[in-house]
Amino acid sequence: MGSVNEIDFGTPPSTSENLVELVIDGQTVRVPWGSSILRAAQTIGASIPKLCATESLQAFGSCRLCLVEIEGRAGAPASCTTPVAQGMVVKTQTPQLAKLRRGVMELYISDHPLDCLTCAANGDCELQDMAGAVGLREVRYGHQGKNHLDLPCDESNPYFTFDPAKCIVCSRCVRACDEVQGTFALTVQGRGFPSQVAASQSESFLDSECVSCGACVQACPTAALTEKAVIEIGQPAHSVATTCAYCGVGCTFNAEMRGEELVRMVPRKDGKANRGHSCVKGRFAWGYATHRDRILNPMIRGSIQEPWREVSWAEAIAYAASEFKRIQANYGRGAVGGITSSRCTNEETYLVQKMVRTAFGNNNVDTCARVCHSPTGYGLKTTLGTSAGTQDFDSVAQCDVMVVIGANPTDGHPVFASRMKQRLRQGAKLIVIDPRRIDLVRTPHIEAAHHLPLRPGTNVAVLTAMAHVIVTEGLVDEMFVQTRCELDAFEFWAEFVSRPENSPEATQAYTGVDAGEVRAAARLYATGGAAAIYYGLGVTEHSQGSTAVMAIANLAMATGNLGKPGCGVNPLRGQNNVQGACDMGSFPHELTGYRHISDDATRAMFEDLWAVELDAEPGLRIPNMLDAAVEGSFKGLYVQGEDILQSDPNTRHVAAGLAAMECVVVHDLFLNETATYAHVFLPGSTFLEKDGTFTNAERRIQRVRKVMSPRNGYADWEITQLLSNALGSSMNYAHPSEIMQEIAMLTPTFAGVTYDRLDALGSVQWPCNAAAPEGTPVMHVDGFVRGKGKFIVTEYVPTDEKIGPRFPLLLTTGRILSQYNVGAQTRRTANVTWHQEDVLEIHPHDAEDRGIGDGDWVKLHSRAGATTLRTIVTDRVAPGVVYTTFHHPDTQANVVTTEHSDWATNCPEYKVTAVQVARSNGPSDWQSDYSSKVRRSRRVAPVEPAE
Ligand code: SF4
Ligand code: SF4
Ligand code: SF4
Ligand code: FES
Repeated sequence: MGSVNEIDFGTPPSTSENLVELVIDGQTVRVPWGSSILRAAQTIGASIPKLCATESLQAFGSCRLCLVEIEGRAGAPASCTTPVAQGMVVKTQTPQLAKLRRGVMELYISDHPLDCLTCAANGDCELQDMAGAVGLREVRYGHQGKNHLDLPCDESNPYFTFDPAKCIVCSRCVRACDEVQGTFALTVQGRGFPSQVAASQSESFLDSECVSCGACVQACPTAALTEKAVIEIGQPAHSVATTCAYCGVGCTFNAEMRGEELVRMVPRKDGKANRGHSCVKGRFAWGYATHRDRILNPMIRGSIQEPWREVSWAEAIAYAASEFKRIQANYGRGAVGGITSSRCTNEETYLVQKMVRTAFGNNNVDTCARVCHSPTGYGLKTTLGTSAGTQDFDSVAQCDVMVVIGANPTDGHPVFASRMKQRLRQGAKLIVIDPRRIDLVRTPHIEAAHHLPLRPGTNVAVLTAMAHVIVTEGLVDEMFVQTRCELDAFEFWAEFVSRPENSPEATQAYTGVDAGEVRAAARLYATGGAAAIYYGLGVTEHSQGSTAVMAIANLAMATGNLGKPGCGVNPLRGQNNVQGACDMGSFPHELTGYRHISDDATRAMFEDLWAVELDAEPGLRIPNMLDAAVEGSFKGLYVQGEDILQSDPNTRHVAAGLAAMECVVVHDLFLNETATYAHVFLPGSTFLEKDGTFTNAERRIQRVRKVMSPRNGYADWEITQLLSNALGSSMNYAHPSEIMQEIAMLTPTFAGVTYDRLDALGSVQWPCNAAAPEGTPVMHVDGFVRGKGKFIVTEYVPTDEKIGPRFPLLLTTGRILSQYNVGAQTRRTANVTWHQEDVLEIHPHDAEDRGIGDGDWVKLHSRAGATTLRTIVTDRVAPGVVYTTFHHPDTQANVVTTEHSDWATNCPEYKVTAVQVARSNGPSDWQSDYSSKVRRSRRVAPVEPAE
């Protein structure tokens, strides 16, 4: 447990290796060249008053409070903007400086409300601290003159207020928005006395371009920008370090608490993934943890037509175990399976797959990564030897050329997007390959060098055309290829990509991308310096998802962009622990660390420790489980933290599979859509209520720490343990650290991971073992994990999902900043303020052809099904392409997605669906029925009064 206040050194650290020696207040100090005097003084505890300076922002020099005297120099320069110099002699405290500082403070206080005792920032206000620090005893100028005290508060943002009366116009908020977040939503309008902070064009925060990241609130030294939770609850008293449970960036936070009540989440400056920043979800959208919809008592029912009956934990666990045993006795050992969750911790995921393999006695375990990054696993393992991104996020600071393909970082991975934007503003070049004009293509002070708006489904053709240019124009890094890659495979591949049919000119007709642009982008990628590829589900969720991942790895190997800072192949993982869920053996064919279940030596290791015999045959994947259920051979499923009815493709088929099962156990926070077909509901715990670890997109293992007791009574790992024990497979872990101990014993890439090491280092990136005790920031440095890198021929095979007269448009899907996946959490927070429904983006030409206007209801229709939603007419999408999100169950975008999937991994082809769009009068019948059906499925039988 920590305190809530950290030292602020005033200005950013210098990275120079040259040291400068100077004397401050009689003490000799050595600091890196380029440090400010303010920072140098702070390092020896000589605290200089300051207001406009803070260490996360470049020095600005506006408040004139940090003045110092320097021997041999006239006047009193600001220490935040004055760099140290060899031999300098500085005084930070003199009568003259004290007088000047008091004068500055008097001016501030003369235009500031004197309501400290009732102010929300009381005790956490730098203005208050500075009044004390300078010894302010009187204010000679009263409030009678012109002042800002009556300016109205802006309460429009659901999470924070802006009270201009308390603003000292220090510009910290403006600079945080520019430098840290990169949104440039704030300005100081006017000059002199009337100057005032304004959002966009003097709009309210809500109506402005603000994306509610909270960086400005964190930077504000007064109560001008304050979290509403602090106003309502009061100042936090202690803090616990933990990790965000939303996306794969893995931001770390101090959960600041009063007792067991969470007051605010403050991003940790030493968080290696986020470096003190966060987005609206991690910082503010945690209210779902105490939402009234949360189910806190276990429930069972004999059939899905019956109302739920609340029961004790003992009864629910015993019932679920007896049902699974009954099903296995009647239908065979393989008739049941489990699904692990990328939302849960590594330890919880490990236990679910262990329970399936030991208690169920089969390998029917799969994970939600099946529907997102399973092609990453296949593609990177085949080419490079391991299923993970090659770099750390810090590496982006050394990148010269960024390729973003099939990802929308400003919405999906916002904190990393801010780091990308920082580097792009410094001059790195950007290539965006995406059917849609994502925000990064043009955003304040950033313009992509090339945007290749390809037709959905043609990634492989475009990536291969880029390879064609690199090979035929002699841009291959011969030395890298000669020393690091399999030469036969390279030559085979080089001959293939060089064929005329793979040229940008030949592929232009079906990719829709101008050949000249492809050539220019390929040249830039190959010759522009350190080049990194960042990709997302717009690459993997295709019938050729695995092929596209291999095409990306081919490009990186051909240009030598691997194994060093600033480059690499970087999958942007969607969920907080999707990397970890894959690492933990969640796939039916792999044990932890991606070792195949058929490998006798690996299996023997697990069999020895678990004292069971393991099946050497891979089990069923999620789609196979559902198919088998429809066919009648699969009857029981345990689903932890995953709403397959909403997140998996072809909703009707998923529903048919679930309906055909005799025992569906849903273990989750809320009665989700899948629970409509469940017989047992086990209430889950939130990330705030348990210990464990998550692994982010850069393979970084970070601690999740319990900040409050589980409201449902148990952490999720304890519930799986109870179920496993009831099934007859004994588990006796007292704490998740013991589970990690077992994972480390069984997994070479985790061999050095312990909670003690994580506590000491903050985090480690696997592999972490004897060879790399502090982890591995950059992989494949001296050689690939598989030895030599392997080029794979990536022949473009068009998807079977064809457009035609009935379905002439291509639908692609994505997500939006404020919402998260199926929205179970974010829809239960004030984030709905920004996104209340899924909408369909359609190009003006396509809209006009169909007589559709902005905001109209339209029916979106595919071969699989139809749904109804409103439109936005926009040229962000190319003609012939429509786009929507999938956050709301009453839209259920997956009603229209098809069963096409990646040839290697079965990852659904969410990103390409042939559709038609037509005007409609409003929601479809099933959508109107939806609410009442959901209400029925959520009925809970009244509890009989006790005798
Ligand atoms: S919340 Fe973030 S985006 Fe909004 S004004 Fe503040 S820093 Fe800018
Ligand atoms: S709102 Fe806060 S950070 Fe922004 S200028 Fe005013 S006092 Fe400074
Ligand atoms: S970027 Fe991702 S990990 Fe970071 S705060 Fe936002 S949702 Fe959480
Ligand atoms: S802190 Fe240096 S001028 Fe404000």
